[in-house]
Amino acid sequence: MPNLLSRGLFNLFFGSRRKPFAALPGPQPGVLGTAGDFLGPQPWDVCARYGREYGGVTLIWMGPSPGVVLNDPALIAEVLESPRRMEFEKGNISEQVRPTVTGDTVFIAKLSEDWAEKRRLEPMEQPWSPEWLAAQVQPMQTAIAESVEALLAEPSLDYTAALRRLTFDAFAVAAVGEKLPSSVFEDFLLLAKGADARIQAKLPLKFVSLPKGFAEAKTRFYGHFADRVRAARKSPKPHAVDLLSWSLRETPGIEDQVLAHLLGGVFYGGVFSSSTTLVGAFHQLQKYPDAEAQLATEAATLAEGALTFEKLSGAQWIEAVAYESLRLLPAVRVFTRTPSADAQLAGVMLPAGSMIMISNQHLHRDPAHWTDPEGFHPARWLDGGVARDPLGSGHFFPFGRGPRACVGGAFAMVFLQTALATIGARVKAHVDSTEPFEEGFFFGVVLPKGVTGRFIARHPQAARGTPAVHTA
Ligand code: HEM
Repeated sequence: MPNLLSRGLFNLFFGSRRKPFAALPGPQPGVLGTAGDFLGPQPWDVCARYGREYGGVTLIWMGPSPGVVLNDPALIAEVLESPRRMEFEKGNISEQVRPTVTGDTVFIAKLSEDWAEKRRLEPMEQPWSPEWLAAQVQPMQTAIAESVEALLAEPSLDYTAALRRLTFDAFAVAAVGEKLPSSVFEDFLLLAKGADARIQAKLPLKFVSLPKGFAEAKTRFYGHFADRVRAARKSPKPHAVDLLSWSLRETPGIEDQVLAHLLGGVFYGGVFSSSTTLVGAFHQLQKYPDAEAQLATEAATLAEGALTFEKLSGAQWIEAVAYESLRLLPAVRVFTRTPSADAQLAGVMLPAGSMIMISNQHLHRDPAHWTDPEGFHPARWLDGGVARDPLGSGHFFPFGRGPRACVGGAFAMVFLQTALATIGARVKAHVDSTEPFEEGFFFGVVLPKGVTGRFIARHPQAARGTPAVHTA
């Protein structure tokens, strides 16, 4: 809480601005407004604390500018889902990631401009996308199994780094049909670091420089996909099931560069968020051995023969583990909107450009809605649990809500389930500590820190010298 002098100064200079917002609860503003609350703790923890202390809507002050933090499902639906959603554009994130992604991705498009047109072009939104998705299970399983074999040889793993690369490789197989050279992964990371520096900057963006070699890495990264698109046009593979081949067959008129940008965008859309979710899942499974044993049993059954989409769809425990991980430790916990013109919301008139922060952390752990919300209980998703709290509903929206929710949500679910099944069948992902891990922030996504451990082979033939465990 700002001291008396700081609060007095705010009131002296901006007191008259407070009157129209008097009906809304919130922390006392000081000279920085209430922005000081966000200097230190992670923004999702601040938003969740506001939810507990002030309820569904909290008035905040970014310096002299008012804003709100929403923790109320009805207000969140009004901003993200109702016809009124057209009044609210994405917040600063669009400008922050702009140098890294391209104008062809829907991520930074404006609702009032070409967002709808871009969304229609998204490969994951096509009538054929579900068929493409179903065909990814087997190739991703093979790619993940190879990564697991390599990771088994490591005496110690930093799970965030290891699963990030495993995820990147599986995404590459789904996107272009094979793993990509390490140099492409390095370029991908450098471009992400550039965006991250802008997201985390405390200074105006014009003072934030991009990392050395950024422009060259960008040319190489998207150029790599452009080369692949041109090569695929020249020598089409009629039976290939990757996104590139499928897109060219179904939408041959798409421009090479647009397709290259969309393929590259898949990695920015989902590698960090999906791998963070897996780290959270394995951390919780270490803490809840019964849940882990059930995962091992189900994964072992699925491992008999090739994994298919149908088999995966019947694996209820694996789905429940994925859902519970997305509930308790959602990888994307805060997103923002801003009214493009003055807009009435929560009984006040928010000026154009003001900050609306939406977080899922508080609602995902709301004790009025969930039993033992801080516990990891996949069983809550069985026996109608998924239908009670479907993705994108009031208390469960790890992929956002409404028409602008995650374009890759269905793909992310299939990836997560394939990864849990494939890793769970082969190894016990041992995590050294079940104490809550430190949460950092990278590229707008939660970054688990210090989660170490190792893979322990479940079967001696996969062990390559490591001790076997039998959990089934
Ligand atoms: C566990 C994994 C993932 C999580 C937790 C996640 C989360 C989210 C959330 C919360 C949003 C909405 C943000 C907002 O409303 O401002 C979003 C949007 C988006 N996501 Fe994901 N995402 C994941 C995976 C993916 C994947 C695999 C892709 C790949 C295509 C992807 C691409 C996108 C795009 C392009 C948008 C913007 C959609 C639009 O503006 O219309 N995401 N994601």
